[in-house]
Amino acid sequence: MQLVHLTDLHFGCEDKAALHAAKKYIAETKPDAVIVTGDISKDGLESELMAAGDWMRGLEAPVMLTPGNHDVPYYEMLGRLLYPWDRFERAAVGIQTEAWHTPLWSIVPINTARAWQFRFNWAQGEISRGQTAIAGAELQRAQEGALRIVITHHPLDWPNDAPIKGLTRGGLRGLEKLIDSGAELFLSGHLHFASARLVGTRALSVTSGTLSQRVRHEPCAFSVIRRPEPQVIETEVIHIVQGVCQSASTRRFTLAGLPHLDQPAEIHAQV
Ligand SMILES: [Fe+2]
Repeated sequence: MQLVHLTDLHFGCEDKAALHAAKKYIAETKPDAVIVTGDISKDGLESELMAAGDWMRGLEAPVMLTPGNHDVPYYEMLGRLLYPWDRFERAAVGIQTEAWHTPLWSIVPINTARAWQFRFNWAQGEISRGQTAIAGAELQRAQEGALRIVITHHPLDWPNDAPIKGLTRGGLRGLEKLIDSGAELFLSGHLHFASARLVGTRALSVTSGTLSQRVRHEPCAFSVIRRPEPQVIETEVIHIVQGVCQSASTRRFTLAGLPHLDQPAEIHAQV
């Protein structure tokens, strides 16, 4: 199983060379799926979102998408209040945005972005108890042996070494509950920073880099997720420098409690 994890494409200030390189990498390596964890646009403009949707639909792999805080009408108060997700939903037509179950994985999306909040910084994320409960129930639908993946834009656990500081409201509570519901892998973005760390012994939390000009502390980057053995998750960070993909690091994490797969069968994913 091989998944490519992209995030923070930020069409409007996208890095065209990085997008081209990532698309080429996907065409050549043929991952089973591409997961995009939000912030596909810069300002939530219709033109930006549609361009991002067109680009994702042009990838040679099934794509799954969850939105980020930049995917609402960013500087339009009326839009934030009245139709925060309409443009995003139009742009995402033909792309998987609901929970996705196959024999090899269950991917459960949770929208942690908010059109407005009772706090100063509306860019920050939140996961409610209701969202956690719905996602937990969805995880229960996973087939035996399928890797149970939760995708969000904002990391539920904010890495200490992240280039920006922040907090996802309800994040740690949600993380704990979702692990109790069987989640084994958390994929997120927002930080423009690639990281991977175990959460206790049963789950791994991964953030991926950006494919936009808004780089922070590292070049444009994306991540590749593999499952070489049922208990092992491998993460590879790919940097894109001057339009060329370079493997920056590969790490392997062993999880306790992953069920044993009798047959690591070929995946035949349907969107
Ligand atoms: Fe973001």
